[in-house]
Order: sequence, then structure tokens, then C-alpha cells
Amino acid sequence: MATERTLSIIKPDATNRNLTGKINAKFEDAGLRIIAQKRIHLTPAQAGQFYEVHKERPFYSELCEFMASAPVVVQVLEGENAIAKNREVMGATNPANADEGTIRKEFALSVGENSVHGSDAPETAAQEIAFFFSGLELVG
Ligand code: PPS
Repeated sequence: MATERTLSIIKPDATNRNLTGKINAKFEDAGLRIIAQKRIHLTPAQAGQFYEVHKERPFYSELCEFMASAPVVVQVLEGENAIAKNREVMGATNPANADEGTIRKEFALSVGENSVHGSDAPETAAQEIAFFFSGLELVG
């Protein structure tokens, strides 16, 4: 198994409810190491750029507005199979389908306000990490 890095975002619904520490504990308990982390407030344009891959989908503007509605915590998680492991810890996109014990089962409010984002593949992880962090900010 390879050591990987993945981009994680704690979304506005979770920062609004002061859940950053509880969510970080789930990552750390699963063996993921938080090697970079910062709290930022995205503009709608920045959110739009990050989610450009979804620009043709009907929920795109709603998603961008939501992601710019309050601060987010962007982070890089490192560990064995970090991309898949993080997606396991997050649970299904729609909390109604998420397994017990996952972040989304426990905390998410809806398919949009679903508390966390995680990269879905090595190429997107590299792109998404570079979107928010410089190499110097990644302290493994
Ligand atoms: S996935 O896992 O990427 O295949 O999920 P997908 O269904 O393609 O959703 C991609 C992101 O869009 C968000 N989403 C929505 N936001 C607002 N309203 C609606 N209806 C909606 N449906 C999906 C979803 O939370 C995913 O966000 P990220 O940050 O990528 O997890």
C-alpha cells in the first residue's frame, strides 16, 4: 500500500456548527495525519473555480454559494491509501446513504450541506492540493 495525500475540506455547515475538532478526530482515529490545514473564506468565484468540473450540473450555483457562505477549513491528509480511506471515513455523498460511524452519517445535513469534501483520485488530489497549498506548507 502506498502513502498518499488527499485534499479535504470541512464545509460551511460544519464550521458553522463548530465541528472542526470532532471531524479532525475522525480523520486522526482512522490513521490519517493532518499535514497542512488552514481556515479560509472562499469567494463565490474561487468556489466556482474549485468546482469547475461540476459547472454543467444543476446544483452548481447552489454549491458555489454554499461553499462561499462561511469559512471552510482546507487540509491535506496523509496516510496509507489516504484517498480511499478518507472517502470511507467521510461516508456517502448523501447522508441518507452513509454508513454508521461516518462523518456524513453523524454530521451532514443534506447532499449539499454534507460537512466534508475529499478528493476522489490521485490526479484530482494533486490538483486540489495545489489549488490551496504551496509545497512549503505541506509538513509531513
Ligand atoms: S461525487 O461523490 O463527487 O460523485 O458526488 P456528486 O453527487 O457528483 O456531487 C459532487 C458535489 O456536489 C455536491 N452536491 C450538491 N450540492 C448542492 N445541491 C445538490 N443537490 C448537490 N448534489 C451534490 C456534493 O456535496 C459534492 O460535493 P463535494 O464537495 O465534491 O463532496
